[in-house]
Amino acid sequence: MSADLLTVANLSARYDRVEVLHGVSLTVGPGEFVCVIGANTAGKSTLLRAISRLVPRATGSIAFRGQDLMRMPAHRVPALGIAHVPEGRHVFPDMSVEDNLLAGAFSCRGDPAIPARMEEVFALFPRLRERRSQRAGSMSGGEQQMVAVGRALMLAPRLLMLDEPSHGLAPMVVEELHAALVTIHARGTAILLVEQNTQLALSVATRGVVLESGRVALEGSAAALRDDPRVREAYLGL
Ligand SMILES: Nc1ncnc2c1ncn2[C@@H]1O[C@H](COP(=O)(O)OP(=O)(O)O)[C@@H](O)[C@H]1O
Ligand SMILES: [Mg+2]
Repeated sequence: MSADLLTVANLSARYDRVEVLHGVSLTVGPGEFVCVIGANTAGKSTLLRAISRLVPRATGSIAFRGQDLMRMPAHRVPALGIAHVPEGRHVFPDMSVEDNLLAGAFSCRGDPAIPARMEEVFALFPRLRERRSQRAGSMSGGEQQMVAVGRALMLAPRLLMLDEPSHGLAPMVVEELHAALVTIHARGTAILLVEQNTQLALSVATRGVVLESGRVALEGSAAALRDDPRVREAYLGL
């Protein structure tokens, strides 16, 4: 058995006849912070969706805490301890912030730890506490992303997967969001972050994987990738 939390090995995934991931392997250790970087259409979202079992036509192996995810239906994945914040901000617009957060705890309904978890989310994002009764759909993009991340945290996941959480947000909000990710990681949650902003991703993650056309082109510590001439030229514009 491996000591990794998540082990993806030789994962291929296709939509209809088009294969978009070709034998991807990567690991996330317990409490590790790994980022996946790569150009548009490299397959980053497909990778996260395949881990969440949302891409039916996938082959290879995905193990989480020793369990074979390839044998799991998507609806069982959250309860195993994997929370996925998808691309875009999918909050329930007509529900309050508080009800959105409670909806995140769906797979552990009735758990007495839920109020304490909500307190933790409010401590991380004080703005959500102030606006707990507000309709989520009436909040700014950055606040909605905080609701989406907070909702994922209500599961108390062992692995938090985020797909471009900073996309389209103002720089100040992005900083706030990334600071929250650093705090979440420091508290012991493993993170798999897909991020367009390579500079930012490599400044918060400890390790990185570069995906190019559905294949892992490079991987290493965040520091090594920041210094890698190929990363500097292709992804950092240096
Ligand atoms: N639902 C889908 N049906 C068909 N093709 C898709 C679908 N989702 C993504 N693709 C294709 O798969 C490739 C990888 O997409 P994606 O994983 O979204 O890349 P990234 O997140 O890195 O931008 C792209 O060529 C995209 O057009
Ligand atoms: Mg994407």
